[in-house]
Amino acid sequence: MNTLESPAIQMRGITKRFPGVLANDHVDLDVYPGEVLALLGENGAGKSTLMNILSGLYRPDEGQIIIHGRPVHLRSPREAIAHGIGMVHQHFMLVESLTVAENVVLGLDSTGFVLNLKQVGEELAALSARYGLPVDPNAYIWQLSVGEQQRVEILKLLYRGADVLILDEPTAVLTPQEAADLATTLRQMADEGKAVIFITHKLDEVMAFADRVTVLRAGRVVATLPSRETTKAELARLMVGREVLFHLSKKPRRPGRVALEVEDLEALNDKGLPALRGVSFTIREGEILGIAGVAGNGQRELAEVITGLRPATRGHVRVHGQEITNRSPRQAIEAGISHIPGDRLGMGLVPNLPVSDNLAMKAYRRPPLARGPILDRRALYRFARRLIEAFRIVTPGPETPVKLLSGGNQQRAVLAREITAGRGILIAVHPSRGLDVGA
Ligand SMILES: Nc1ncnc2c1ncn2[C@@H]1O[C@H](COP(=O)(O)OP(=O)(O)O)[C@@H](O)[C@H]1O
Ligand SMILES: [Mg+2]
Repeated sequence: MNTLESPAIQMRGITKRFPGVLANDHVDLDVYPGEVLALLGENGAGKSTLMNILSGLYRPDEGQIIIHGRPVHLRSPREAIAHGIGMVHQHFMLVESLTVAENVVLGLDSTGFVLNLKQVGEELAALSARYGLPVDPNAYIWQLSVGEQQRVEILKLLYRGADVLILDEPTAVLTPQEAADLATTLRQMADEGKAVIFITHKLDEVMAFADRVTVLRAGRVVATLPSRETTKAELARLMVGREVLFHLSKKPRRPGRVALEVEDLEALNDKGLPALRGVSFTIREGEILGIAGVAGNGQRELAEVITGLRPATRGHVRVHGQEITNRSPRQAIEAGISHIPGDRLGMGLVPNLPVSDNLAMKAYRRPPLARGPILDRRALYRFARRLIEAFRIVTPGPETPVKLLSGGNQQRAVLAREITAGRGILIAVHPSRGLDVGA
């Protein structure tokens, strides 16, 4: 990066409020041509909001955007791209039923002449080759993997002549190999003089991809540093606001009896296609088994079959030797299985019910919460208060509807309930989603 150059973008005093939330609080940010800038922060720090402002999707309540020295008002993404600023959002904005080339030209002013899609395809192929973004211009979006769709979004921006490219958590949907390829592409774009901003909450990516890093915490910039002059520990401290331990001392353990046994398990996904094909493993008491893989390769279905939410078409699930294959979720719970689902608002929590009821959902059938057929509300409140304190759930009180909590605190509520209810086996799908590095 050439620091003698003047910034491509200057954001000055940017403030953005949502009802009850100060998402961006007088944020200053500079981006230079030729650099990859990481925008680092925990969930809810205000990263997406700030970049949605820079890409013309949101208007700031206060503050100014200066592009190559000139103050501008960006009233839409179209105006932003006219100034060379484009963003790849976390949720792609492609039309599934159209081809790659059609998506790229969609929304362009084709003043009077019919767009020549063949020529667009050729130009795209050239951009693909130049930036290492392989994708077939004639393929339909629905035929493409998530990684390929992301490449289409990037190509779309390049085709429109963007020289400031913003990517919102781009690696979240990529395999490690795809992420490494993306890093190469970003570096090349920067080497050609473009400015690249990528949003992340992953410290390793800052170190691997970025020239500089700006850290946001609770809507404010807490630091901007060259990544070569900082460490993961420092970045974590800046991001979270306190010291973070990276190394847990794991003592060697002597595993106990077999707790869960999965044998030759097969199941279908929601589309009726095979999701699990002969999965077998055992877990003993005292063990943690990690299941790794790119999302969409059967992890969710596996958790659902074990917890009784999805039928197995073949094979066995046994808990302490007892067959529980294709029993109900309630029977799985009674066998000692608890479940932290990947989708906390879909399956983990009832949004409109109070925090207390959500915490008690697995305990209310048994004493001390149940006295015979009667639910003891006072015992329920005591139970909830104890969990709120033990798991440091930030909530105005046990009566607050759980939907009003932040994502991280909702996740703590699910963890609190499932860990407390656990009587043997905990199935956790992305348990750290939404939690900061400290938690
Ligand atoms: N459209 C919106 N309406 C209301 N609140 C929002 C909206 N977008 C973001 N927020 C809130 O603003 C804060 C910052 O959110 P966001 O910019 O998405 O954070 P990040 O991208 O760093 O995770 C959060 O508290 C979030 O709930
Ligand atoms: Mg975000």
